[in-house]
Amino acid sequence: MIDLPTASQLGKPNWINNLDIQGWNSDSTIFPEMIKEVEPKLIIEVGTWKGASAIHMASLVKFLNLDTKIVCVDTWLGALEMWTDREDKDRYLSLGLNLGYPTVYYQFLYNVIESGFGDIISPFHRHHKLQLDILKQKILDLI
Ligand SMILES: C[S@@+](CC[C@H](N)C(=O)[O-])C[C@H]1O[C@@H](n2cnc3c(N)ncnc32)[C@H](O)[C@@H]1O
Repeated sequence: MIDLPTASQLGKPNWINNLDIQGWNSDSTIFPEMIKEVEPKLIIEVGTWKGASAIHMASLVKFLNLDTKIVCVDTWLGALEMWTDREDKDRYLSLGLNLGYPTVYYQFLYNVIESGFGDIISPFHRHHKLQLDILKQKILDLI
């Protein structure tokens, strides 16, 4: 695996000052079930958004005293349906466009570091297909 900087090494955006950890089923019971079962050394999360599920997983591995790193793979450009309805607060507006480009990644960084998990979570800006090509050569615990 490429040696990636952690969120803490990258730094907390100083223009954001509030947590916004909105996600989808990010607190599902599947996370503690899988993590207890597998005790992974490395988790690759494909699709992270603002970090809700990554933060949930990080809190679990810390609680279980595991030495686990979490790599978050995302383009941070949003899914296609987020771009279609410009009135949709939960999707289009949540992209946080600045000069037409999404700023979700910066909220993710802020959330992860402010929640105290910046040392175990690393972002990896990739389309999932590029990421899978890299991973084909590796044996992983939990994707
Ligand atoms: C449903 S959200 C992830 C939710 C998140 N796990 C949570 O905490 O609820 C889906 C994410 O996948 C990302 N995404 C969509 N297509 C992608 C692709 N082909 N490669 C990488 N990321 C992608 C989007 O940018 C978005 O952040």
